[in-house]
Amino acid sequence: MADPVCAQKGPYFEELEPGDYYWCSCGQSKRQPFCDGSHKGTGFEPVVFTVTEKKMYSLCGCKRSADAPFCDGAHNKI
Ligand code: FES
Ligand code: FES
Repeated sequence: MADPVCAQKGPYFEELEPGDYYWCSCGQSKRQPFCDGSHKGTGFEPVVFTVTEKKMYSLCGCKRSADAPFCDGAHNKI
């Protein structure tokens, strides 16, 4: 499997309501940082995560975080 595409060399800040979300792990979605189905055939799958508290989240845009879907600073090493 190839490396994911770096959609953005930094996080997406999103205020999220409680609910389930699909974070794009392949980097090819046009609806970053969320999955839009573009991963088809890439071997990547979206990461499902659940938000229980409405607040601002920092979601990984570089697709290299070890704590996906959240930014862990790995984008600083690209
Ligand atoms: Fe990917 Fe920060 S944007 S680790
Ligand atoms: Fe990237 Fe679905 S579009 S994981």
